[in-house]
Amino acid sequence: MFRHAHTVPLLMSLALGGCAMAGGHRSADTPQTRGHATAQRACAACHAVEPGGAASPRERAVPFASLEMRHTVGLDGRLADLTRRGHYGMPPIALDAGELTDLQAYIESLHRD
Ligand code: HEC
Repeated sequence: MFRHAHTVPLLMSLALGGCAMAGGHRSADTPQTRGHATAQRACAACHAVEPGGAASPRERAVPFASLEMRHTVGLDGRLADLTRRGHYGMPPIALDAGELTDLQAYIESLHRD
């Protein structure tokens, strides 16, 4: 359905990867950094996705660093369900299992102190 949407970031990351390798160090590619990128791409229009207590762009969308988010992701495990069916005016988002795992890893990393 959203196949084309995946092609562009992939090509971009290949291009960036090439540059980074020529230039020396590249930032660590971990589940958290990948999940962070997915959150910025797919969720940040409505949710505050960065660490800290910033308010979400869209009223009522829970900030990813909030306790409520932690419960939804970690305890209820509803992330896959929410993205597949869509929620609150957001169309279903095509995220594959790997992207969901990364997203969850990123959200959980916000709550580890
Ligand atoms: C079009 C805006 C929009 C986008 C894009 C969006 N959300 Fe939401 N989301 C909302 C709103 C609004 C709420 C809160 C609704 C309420 O509780 O009244 C919400 C609630 C949630 C909740 C809590 C749900 C619950 O029942 O407790 C989770 C988890 C969540 N969003 C995850 C995500 C993730 C992950 C993404 C990106 C893949 C995302 N959202 C993208 C608008 C959005």
